[in-house]
Amino acid sequence: MAINNSNYLLISLTFFLIAFSSNHANGEVLKVGFYHKTCPHVELISKEIVDDVISRVPSLAAPLLRMHYHDCFVRGCDGSVLLDSPTKQAEKDSIPNLSLRGYQIIDKVKTALEKSCPGIVSCADIVALVARDVTVAVKGPSWEVETGRRDGSVSNITEALFNLIPPFANITSLKQGFLQRGLSVKDLVVLSGSHTIGISHCSSFNNRLYNFTGKGDTDPSLDPNYIKNLKKKCPPNDQNTLVEMDPGSVRTFDNSYYKLVAKRRGLFTSDSALLDDSETKDYLKKQGINQYGSTFFKDFGESMVKMGRVQVLTGNQGEIRKVCSRIN
Ligand code: HEM
Repeated sequence: MAINNSNYLLISLTFFLIAFSSNHANGEVLKVGFYHKTCPHVELISKEIVDDVISRVPSLAAPLLRMHYHDCFVRGCDGSVLLDSPTKQAEKDSIPNLSLRGYQIIDKVKTALEKSCPGIVSCADIVALVARDVTVAVKGPSWEVETGRRDGSVSNITEALFNLIPPFANITSLKQGFLQRGLSVKDLVVLSGSHTIGISHCSSFNNRLYNFTGKGDTDPSLDPNYIKNLKKKCPPNDQNTLVEMDPGSVRTFDNSYYKLVAKRRGLFTSDSALLDDSETKDYLKKQGINQYGSTFFKDFGESMVKMGRVQVLTGNQGEIRKVCSRIN
């Protein structure tokens, strides 16, 4: 067939469209209101379910906020933390994730969304929306959640173990863990402020109370009076007891975390470590002063949006899972 002008035009146009669409798909970015046309009530549905759940079980707010972080730091925010493995080899089976809870709330939102707009909203986006909604439900800040993430298909126990920063991390590894993911030192100190809500197992900090350097000693960076209190709750080698991370306001998202850390009462080594860097130390001293002069709420929303962009799948990458705990 001879290629005439109109054929040539058609071929060029097709080529352009293919090139543009694949380019567009790979370079696609998240945006606020991604489901505006395809699932207009997505945010309302998520919020209604979250408000109802948190009004009945407020303690679920903390693990659901934490879930977004644990999703994003392992293979990016791709919903991989939600996947089940029949042989217990998925991210959720790894030690740092054994204390995550609230998967059933993500499933509840997913089921409601599959009814109103089947096959449209990714599980990774649900995790991001729910993280914002639970924060608001415990009187924390609100922010506009970018959406358009796609769900991944791989979830690996070892990757979770190596990528989630341990509670005994020092400031160097904390900074490194954040910088590697395109997050700043400011994001580190801001997002650590999440520890204003929730609980921890004694096992996450027991070494600071009984055997800090292997000689039966305590961590000198922790307030000795606080150590006394903590020892009453956590006997040596206790694996199961739970303690409030921000005693007194464990169910309210506020700036009290920064006051505690400044008073050398941060529960984990990773909390205390924020006093070992001039930028993080400056930030926490400023935020602790008073709730209303503090920029923490505004900063928190901005850092959550940044965290929500880590290594996301977009466009035609990944899939939209029908059920969040398994690939299609
Ligand atoms: C900076 C590094 C971080 C470390 C080392 C860390 C470590 C931990 C640990 C060890 C626990 C207690 C787990 C347990 O023993 O039950 C915990 C709880 C929690 N973390 Fe973090 N975390 C970090 C960052 C974050 C971030 C970025 C967020 C959210 C954006 C977050 C949100 C939470 C929340 C809300 C809880 C309470 C969970 C509950 O009540 O079940 N953490 N974290």
